[in-house]
Formats: sequence, C-alpha cells, structure tokens
Amino acid sequence: MDSQSILDLLERHGQPHILGHVQRLSPGKREVFCRNLARLNLPLAFQLYGEFSGQKGSRTDLSSIGPAPIISIPKTPEEIQRREKAIHLGEALIRGNQVAVLIVAGGQGTRLGFPGPKGFFPISPVKKKPLFQLFAESIQALSTRYRAGMPLLVMTSQENREETETFFESRGFFGLPKSQVHFFCQGMLPTLTPGGKLILGDETSLLANPDGHGGSLKALYESGLAGRLKGQGVSEIFYFQVDNPLAKIADPAFIGYHRQEGADISTKVVRRQNLEEKVGIYGMVNGKPAIIEYSDFSPKDYRSRDEQGNIRYWAGNMAIHMISLSFVDRLNRRGFALPYHRAVKEVEGLDPAGRNEKMAGLKFETFVFDSIPLAQKACCMEVVREEEFAPVKNQTGIDSPDTARQAMNSLFRRWLTEAGGEVAPNVQVEISPLFALDQEELAEKLKGKKVVVGEDTYFG
Ligand code: UTP
Repeated sequence: MDSQSILDLLERHGQPHILGHVQRLSPGKREVFCRNLARLNLPLAFQLYGEFSGQKGSRTDLSSIGPAPIISIPKTPEEIQRREKAIHLGEALIRGNQVAVLIVAGGQGTRLGFPGPKGFFPISPVKKKPLFQLFAESIQALSTRYRAGMPLLVMTSQENREETETFFESRGFFGLPKSQVHFFCQGMLPTLTPGGKLILGDETSLLANPDGHGGSLKALYESGLAGRLKGQGVSEIFYFQVDNPLAKIADPAFIGYHRQEGADISTKVVRRQNLEEKVGIYGMVNGKPAIIEYSDFSPKDYRSRDEQGNIRYWAGNMAIHMISLSFVDRLNRRGFALPYHRAVKEVEGLDPAGRNEKMAGLKFETFVFDSIPLAQKACCMEVVREEEFAPVKNQTGIDSPDTARQAMNSLFRRWLTEAGGEVAPNVQVEISPLFALDQEELAEKLKGKKVVVGEDTYFG
C-alpha cells in the first residue's frame, strides 16, 4: 500500500488522531511512519474489529463434546509393539531428511517479564544455558545420531527477529551449520483500543502485536519457506513452543504415529495434574477433534469428574504437534483458514500528548490448534508430563523458571539413578543433549562405570 492509500484507509476508518499526528511529523518522519504502517495488515485489523464488535463471546456448547481417540502410554504387549513400529517409522523419516523442527518464538512473553526474547532465558539447572541453546544442541545431537540435516526453523516476530538472529550468530549457531537454521517472521497486527482506535507505539510507529502462534502456519507458507522445504524433500514439521525446555524434539514415536495414522496434524497431551490446572483440553467437538480452551468451560464443568472419580476433561494440550507440509499448503491455498480470536490485555502506548500510558489494548491472534478440526485426519498421543512438559510462563510460582529447573533436575537425576548412578540429595544435575539425548543413551554411555554425584554436576 502506498502512503496515500494508507492515509485514505485511516480516514475511512475514523482515525483522525493518527492523521493529525502524521500531519505534525516532519516529511522525513512521515515517510518512516507510513513505511512502518505499510508493514502492518491494517485492512485486516479494521475488518476483524467490525466482525467482532457487538459480538458476545460464545462458549463451546459442552453437550457437543466427547472424548477423542488418544494413543495412550503403552502398557499391553500390542501397544508396546505398535510403539516400536512407530519409532522405527519415525526414525526412517528423520534419516530420510523428511522432518524439520519449528520453534515458535514470536510471543511477547509478558507474564515472564524477561528483558529479551524468551528463547534467551538461562534455564538449565547447572550451566544456565538459554532455551535456544538447549534446542539447538538437541538438533545437533539428533543430526549426528541419524546422520540427517534436520532443518531448524525459528519463527520470530518483527519485534524480536533481529535480536534473535544476532543471538544465534554471535554464539556460532550453537554448533549447528548456519545453513541448517532458518529464521522467518510472523505477521503483526495493529493493537486497537476497545473503541477501535489505533494506538501510537512511538513517534513513528503504531502499537502492534504478533498475530498469534497460528501465524506460524501462515508465515511458513507466505515466506516461501514451506515451498523450499518441500523442494528439499521435507514433508513433516515437528512444532513446539520456545518455553518448554523438556520438549522431546523430533520424538520418533510421535513422528511415526503421525505417519501411521496418515494425519495432517498430531498433538501431544499430558494428564491434567489437578482440577485447578488451566490448560486447553483435547476432545471431540461436534464430531471433530479439537482443543477446547479452558475458558470455554464453565468452572463447574472444567472441574467435573467422571463416574470413576477421574478428571473428566483430562487431556491437556502441550502445544507440541506434528504438522504435514501438505496441510500447511491446504490451510493457505484459498486465503488463510484459521479463525481470529480477540483478547483485551494491558498495553503501553502514547497518549495524545505523547506521554507513555498504560491502557486496555485489543489484540487479534490466531491459534495453531484451531487447525485441528480443519484436518482430514488428526492424531493424538499421551505422554508423561515429568518427561516432556515444563513450560516457563510466569516469573514465579507454577510454570515458572523454578518449576522448569526442578523438572529438568528431577528427570536427569532419575536417568542417572536408573543407569546405576548414585546422586546425593539436594544437588543439581544437568545432562547436555550432546552427552545423552535420552535415558537409553545415558545408560549406554555409563555402562560399566560407577557414577557418584556429590555436588552440582554437568554432563557435557
Ligand atoms: P504464549 O501464549 O504463552 O505467549 O505463547 P507468550 O508471548 O510466550 O507469553 P505471554 O502470554 O505474553 O506471557 C506460547 C508460544 O507461542 C509463541 C510464543 O513465543 C511461545 O513459544 N507465540 C505466541 C508466537 O510465536 N507468536 C505469537 O504471536 C504468540
């Protein structure tokens, strides 16, 4: 859009305060402002505002909800055999360079309040390695194990792209060849006031927010990266969030089940820890698999138990998916298929006098899990929370750096003791992915050795 079309659009959508601001700017700054505006999808924001205004938030009709098929943690010989087959298939796909790994890292991390992108957060229990480093080292270890050039895709927002790329570059891509790492940027939408007005972020730009983790499926396609990966023979994406240091990256069993089922998208779930835990629930809605947000339940339903006394809605979404590239294509071919959601959050922008002010901001976002009901086939797999899920969302308390470090430490201690090691109480243990990716690899490495850990120890 050229500058004049942008100004016309602002006029049509009742934004005189912004037009007035533009007129007060010097010609040079005006040009910068218009250039910044052109990077935002203004028409979409106005359209969404129109669609949402007057609409009341509608809850999912719970009478339409039922349990979805979920591959449980194997117990019977048949289930164990099926898992073995899935692992075999998953490993073959990795070896055949058909799997890429996608980290979504475009979020604003407001709750954590860390000064910098979340992926920089020093998380590991002993070395305090940043999240990005742990993930990159896992990819390196997987690439070595399977002799594969597993591409690492990092989605950032326009806000944190430069910083993120510089972080990887300045640390030598954590040992990965530069050509194995691909950055791409998600879209941004202007944040509006609840009355539909644009907000100035600073003198030459509007306040804007990344368009949600669902934006990864749009940006992957629109950036041309999905096409390039397909051209290289990649067919499946392992998707996860930057804030889960326990994510079992490119888990062969998960990849294998996804392929066995011929799924467009697959999802990992864990059992809800208790009735209080707020998490999206995997289930059937109107005959289709979907994630139902906890806010869509009434408090009573969300806390309900079944006839055996178990938590009724137990399958908690971990935001870990396998997604087929052909599905990404389909979701975009006739315009991006995911619905937008709106959320009102506290934001900081400039008031008309140019002073910083906290205010309510209306954000529009898409969610990756909204693609599940659009799939021809979806698959879901249950895993053990303690082995794979420790999200870092809040500064303190639940889902915080402390709980994530504890989870990492407990897991590594268990791997060690099960491999015959002795670990003193109250010491921290960290096992680098480059030393052992899993319990089996650790047991193999330590075979015939007596390991006694009496102080904080890093295995690297
Ligand atoms: P969250 O929904 O937890 O948001 O994102 P957040 O931005 O990390 O944190 P809060 O809500 O502001 O405190 C879950 C994952 O999705 C990514 C995040 O980077 C995180 O990995 N995400 C979220 C994006 O990549 N883009 C977005 O627009 C939103």
